[in-house]
Amino acid sequence: SQPLRLGIAGLGTVGVGVVKIVRQQAALLTMRTGREVVITAVSARSRDKDRGVNLDHYAWEDDAVALATRDDVDVYVELMGGEEGPAKDSIEAALKAGKDVVTANKALLAHHGQALAELAEASGAVIRYEAAVAGGIPIIKSLTEGLAANEITRVMGVMNGTCNYILTRMEATGQGYDALFAEADALGYLEADPNLDVGGIDAGHKLAILSSLAFGTQVDFDGVELEGIQRISLEDIRQAADMGYRIKLLGVAQMTGRGLEQRMSPCLVPAQSPLGQLEGGTNMVVVEGSDVGQVVLRGAGAGEGPTASAVMGDVCDIARGYRYPVFGQTADTLKKAPRAQSALP
Ligand code: NAP
Ligand code: HSE
Repeated sequence: SQPLRLGIAGLGTVGVGVVKIVRQQAALLTMRTGREVVITAVSARSRDKDRGVNLDHYAWEDDAVALATRDDVDVYVELMGGEEGPAKDSIEAALKAGKDVVTANKALLAHHGQALAELAEASGAVIRYEAAVAGGIPIIKSLTEGLAANEITRVMGVMNGTCNYILTRMEATGQGYDALFAEADALGYLEADPNLDVGGIDAGHKLAILSSLAFGTQVDFDGVELEGIQRISLEDIRQAADMGYRIKLLGVAQMTGRGLEQRMSPCLVPAQSPLGQLEGGTNMVVVEGSDVGQVVLRGAGAGEGPTASAVMGDVCDIARGYRYPVFGQTADTLKKAPRAQSALP
């Protein structure tokens, strides 16, 4: 069979991780998918930057739209980020050209998921985005595939590696935000605008995507009640610890009689509970289903390797020919759910 040819836009933390996996796991990828997976072209802002990987064998495009629509690209892999601009323009161009898309861009999906799903369906393309939620944890596949026969009653969890890292390191070291920001940055956790992380917005994007998959509703990021961790002080963390609790940025989405409740906010969780024991950049997602009961997924929520692993899982699915609608059911069947104010204090 023909090789699957990737065009990758964005060669930062995640993009470089993807290039490394394509190179280092070439034989494994072919064995698992039955096709060779190759990179034909790449793009980023600066061509001259040393990225620690050799890009000489790939064509370079300055413009992501040009990359996304190249004849020698079968799958457009968008790893630049941003809810507007080149990420949105290039994904739309790829879909209009009938090319499949893999992205890690939760901001884009949270704001434009419905329109992109409609566009993908109209052109017969798929969008895969496992890396967009909870890094290396396969929560998108779990909801769309393994749990597809369940009525989901609740999705909750810790979905931002940066916040979990900062909160757990504040507790362990007594250090303040600035020092810990630098550590999280060195680990490749931060969004281009770190306010998205500490403001709870990035985690809110993820919760909105999970809600759509869980409840068959149109993504409604504006319906997420949001509070970040900026106001959490060392003193708050110490007092919580004295009482046997830890502070986590926790997301909860559930369908109630009043409508869809989505909330992302700092919460006290018992230190000895599974959520309370999450350290560093780890994420945890808990799903409750009508027949399966409770399923708990835990793993690295950010960083080069885990995120690139999720991107490449999507690439493998496309190489194998797995195709299903963007939010697990066709875009015209996704309902607009009424918003319910959270019952939590
Ligand atoms: P990053 O390290 O900042 O890399 C972004 C890349 O995109 C850089 O190579 C940059 O080019 C390129 N880029 C940015 N704006 C561009 C533009 N206007 N035109 C062309 N190229 C542009 O970001 P990242 O951490 O890899 O994240 C990429 C995406 O993955 C984002 O959507 C992010 O939310 C998502 N994500 C990240 C993680 C993580 O742990 N880092 C986890 C899950 C999802 P230059 O290098 O030349 O500046
Ligand atoms: N900035 C995000 C986080 C990256 O810290 O979780 C992973 O989505």
